[in-house]
Amino acid sequence: MKAGTIAGIAGAIAIAFTTAVYAQPIVVKFSHVVAEATPKGQGALKFKEVAEKLLPGKVQVQVFPSSQLFGDAKEMEAVLLGDVQFIAPSLSKFDRYTKKLQVFDLPFLFDDIDAVDRFQKGPQGKALLDSMTSKGLQGLGYWHNGMKQLSSDKDQLKRPEDVKGLKFRIQASDVLEAQFRALGANPQKMSFSEVYQALQTGVVDGQENTWSNIYSQKFYEVQKTIAQTNHGVIDYMVITNAGWWKKLPADVRKGLAQAMDEATEHANKLAEELNERDRKRILEAGKAKVQELSKDDVNAWRKTMEPVWKKFEADIGKDLIQAALKANK
Ligand code: LMR
Repeated sequence: MKAGTIAGIAGAIAIAFTTAVYAQPIVVKFSHVVAEATPKGQGALKFKEVAEKLLPGKVQVQVFPSSQLFGDAKEMEAVLLGDVQFIAPSLSKFDRYTKKLQVFDLPFLFDDIDAVDRFQKGPQGKALLDSMTSKGLQGLGYWHNGMKQLSSDKDQLKRPEDVKGLKFRIQASDVLEAQFRALGANPQKMSFSEVYQALQTGVVDGQENTWSNIYSQKFYEVQKTIAQTNHGVIDYMVITNAGWWKKLPADVRKGLAQAMDEATEHANKLAEELNERDRKRILEAGKAKVQELSKDDVNAWRKTMEPVWKKFEADIGKDLIQAALKANK
C-alpha cells in the first residue's frame, strides 16, 4: 500500500475516533435519598429536563432517588471520588466539612421558610456555598424542603416534658444531638433510609422531619402523634466535586449552571405546596394524630432548646447567627 493511502486511512480513523469520543454525552449522576414526589425529588427531575434540553447530545443526566445509588453515609465520599456528580444533602449533614452550616440547625432560629430563603439569598448565605471548596465540594444552590415537625409513638406530644427519656432518630448533626439532649431525650444518628424500620420496630420512639418526608416515607403510619412544632428547618445544598466542575468545558458548565438555577426556582416554588399537600394527606389518612400547639406550648419548646445556641455560637460565628436572625422580618 502506498504511504499516502496509509496516511489517508489513519487520518480517517483518527477523525472517526475523535468524532465518536466527542459524540459521547457526558453522563452526570444525581443521587438523593428522598422520594420523587418531594421538593428535592422534583428539583432533581427538573434539573435533568433542563440540562438535557440546553445541552442536547452533550450531557445525559441520570437521577437516582430514594438512596438507590448512595445513602447518607456514602454520598459525600462518592462525590469526592467522582462516582456521582450531584447530590443535595440536608444542611444538617455537613458537620464534617464545615461547622458554619450548623447555623441552619439552631432550633427556632428561623420564623418560617421565607426567612430561610432571605438568609440564603443574602451575602452570608451565598458565601456559604463556597465554604467547602478547600475540601473539594462546591455548593451550587439551596433547595427548600420545609419546617420540621416532631413525631413520636406516644399519645401525648404537647410539651417538652412529653419527650423526656424517649429515643429520637436524628440526622448526623451535633446540633440536633444537643437539641434532643436539652429536651432530656436520647438522640440517635441514623441514615434516612433506615428510619422507617427503626420507628416500626421501636428501635427509636420518634423523629423530626418535614410533612413531605413524613408522608412519602410513611412515618405517619408508625407514629402515634405528630406535633406541629415548626422548630427548625430541613433544606438542602446541591453540591458537586469542585475540581470536576472547574474542569468541565465552559459551555457545559454554563448550561449545567443554568439548569441548576431553573431547577432551584422550580423546587423552591413547589416546596411549600408539597408540604401542605402532604400535611393534608396525613390528616386525611387519620393514622397519626396531628397535635396543634398553643403559643405557650411553642414557647416551652423554644425555651427548653435555647441552650443549644450558646453551645454552638463559637463554632458557627456570632455574625452568621445575627445575619440569620435579621432574615426574620
Ligand atoms: C433526613 O435525613 O431526615 C432528611 O434530611 C432527608 C432529606 O434529604 O430530606
